[in-house]
Amino acid sequence: MWPLVVVLLLNSAYCGSAQLILNVTKFVEYTNCNTTVLLPCIVYNIEATGLEELFVKWKFGGKYIFTYDGAKREPKPNINFSSAKIFPDDLLKGNASLEMNKEHAIPGNYTCEVTELSREGDTVVELKYRLVSWFSPNENILIVIFPMLAILLFWGQFGIVTLKLNSSIMKEKTILLFVAGLVLTIVVIVGAILFIPGEYSTKRASGLGLIVVPTVVLILLQYAVFMIAPAIGMSSFSIAILILQVLGFVLSVVGLSLCVSVCAPVHGPLLISGLGIVALAELLGLVYMKFTATNQRTIQPPRKAVEEPLNAFKESKGMMNDE
Ligand SMILES: *[C@@H]1O[C@H](CO)[C@@H](O)[C@H](O)[C@H]1NC(C)=O
Ligand SMILES: *[C@@H]1O[C@H](CO)[C@@H](O)[C@H](O)[C@H]1NC(C)=O
Ligand SMILES: *[C@@H]1O[C@H](CO)[C@@H](O)[C@H](O)[C@H]1NC(C)=O
Ligand SMILES: *[C@@H]1O[C@H](CO)[C@@H](O)[C@H](O)[C@H]1NC(C)=O
Ligand SMILES: *[C@@H]1O[C@H](CO)[C@@H](O)[C@H](O)[C@H]1NC(C)=O
Repeated sequence: MWPLVVVLLLNSAYCGSAQLILNVTKFVEYTNCNTTVLLPCIVYNIEATGLEELFVKWKFGGKYIFTYDGAKREPKPNINFSSAKIFPDDLLKGNASLEMNKEHAIPGNYTCEVTELSREGDTVVELKYRLVSWFSPNENILIVIFPMLAILLFWGQFGIVTLKLNSSIMKEKTILLFVAGLVLTIVVIVGAILFIPGEYSTKRASGLGLIVVPTVVLILLQYAVFMIAPAIGMSSFSIAILILQVLGFVLSVVGLSLCVSVCAPVHGPLLISGLGIVALAELLGLVYMKFTATNQRTIQPPRKAVEEPLNAFKESKGMMNDE
């Protein structure tokens, strides 16, 4: 009985040394953000002293997609995986990992087969594709909500201005405001449609640009509204609001430039705070206008009756003094 055990033990020991042991990686993931994909293949017990002892084959879907003949130092990628390569310098350390461009990567099971003289081994690694959204869901919502809100608030200001204006000359001026506001609204809506949540793409990036950049028009519109609205003009409060809005716009454009070409942006909060400040400035503008408008209504009747003769009196007095 003992000889049998010895033979079995020797046999298994022999078999063990005849096999290459490959570390098992069940799967690797890649996303839209990887430019290249690395499929790991690590031989744990490599003993080769020269590349000529090694031969590497990678298989996908029952076909060899890449072979490396160590004796000839010759990599041979399949035409459909033309960017596939291994790193011969790492091969003697047992690293037969395959790298390829994302464009050539296909999700599925890849088999790595390594031969070292008479020893050989293989392992299967699954390549998975994972969808990642460009911005997080919350960021997506805020990026669209803030500019929309700012535009709505502009229309609120516009409404107040047109209701309060009496002279038809001023009303004609508001037609220009209306057209500019309408174009802005349409552009931002188109931007929001292009920007619909999903992976990074040039379409989404241009959508984001269409949402953010045109908000510069809101600054001009708010300025125009302040100038047209009765009893506002360039007060220190309206100047402060406009400065705040310029600041918000600058922040959001800086945020945009940091995010627009990045697959996984980290400066979303900067962009969003800029857009939030723009919306806040529009809100303050609306509140300010509403406030002065109601104030004016209560003060107006006596003032209107008194102001004109008073002004005429002042003018004539001034003229008399000048002379
Ligand atoms: C491969 O597996 C061996 C044994 O399980 C472990 O000691 C080694 O660290 C692994 N190497 C790598 C690169 O994962
Ligand atoms: C994709 O990129 C990520 C982050 O750089 C990396 O951790 C991952 O291993 C890459 N995936 C593949 C399959 O190479
Ligand atoms: C390349 O891919 C095409 C379509 O996927 C397939 O028909 C063809 O056989 C592949 N070529 C090779 C050499 O595997
Ligand atoms: C294998 O080689 C590749 C390419 O040099 C490297 O990126 C990877 O980290 C290596 N893997 C290990 C486990 O050393
Ligand atoms: C890859 O192999 C694993 C294990 O055999 C299996 O569960 C999985 O469905 C395979 N994946 C593909 C894409 O065929």
